[in-house]
Amino acid sequence: MQKIKVAPSILSADFAKMGEEVKRLEENGADLVHCDVMDGVFVNNITFGLKMVEDIRKHTSLPLDCHLMIVEPEKYVERFVKAGADIVTVHYEACKETLKDTLLKIKAAGAKCGAVINPDTPVSAIEDVVPLCDMILVMSVFPGFGGQKFIPESLDKLRALRKLIEGTGKEIDLEIDGGVSPENAATIKAAGANVIVAGSAVFKAADMRAAIDGIRNN
Ligand code: DX5
Ligand code: ZN
Repeated sequence: MQKIKVAPSILSADFAKMGEEVKRLEENGADLVHCDVMDGVFVNNITFGLKMVEDIRKHTSLPLDCHLMIVEPEKYVERFVKAGADIVTVHYEACKETLKDTLLKIKAAGAKCGAVINPDTPVSAIEDVVPLCDMILVMSVFPGFGGQKFIPESLDKLRALRKLIEGTGKEIDLEIDGGVSPENAATIKAAGANVIVAGSAVFKAADMRAAIDGIRNN
């Protein structure tokens, strides 16, 4: 089993103090910084884009895990890599037949690449691209907002994807995003996830370190 990594989502951070917020994550033991890019079209919310990623890059040495919830991500992936993204993940639902080419574009630009599926997309939709991914992201809420409830059917997808990943013989990370807390982290990890995104559970916790440690160790 791969190392468990905690990737706090800055969607729940104070956007007006982002430099300090990512420093706080680093000081409290986060493994990655999960950056939720939303365009108001692919999802019903708007967050930030290239400039924010570029500026965050100057405030942390943690890997930046950029989750693109945007239409036509193929137009922007190279610029996100240039801005400082270490991992770029793109939605199957935003790419469909261009998914493979978009993943290859991310790799060619020098970052790790990943495919994301929404709660209503089956694992079979991305099965053929699994071997070329560095990471697969399973959405356990419908993307757009933090603080939603974990959809339990996501656990079956994690199990199926962990099996597919094992079949490739490659070290591919399996990430989960949405509604994760120290309380349900153990079940989620047992189902096969090794990269755990958490927004509200980390930023709204009285003790950030305890929340991150809880997600990692529970
Ligand atoms: C949802 C985002 C998530 C979100 C998770 O669209 O992709 O990364 O920040 O937030 P929580 O952990 O609060 O569900
Ligand atoms: Zn996300």
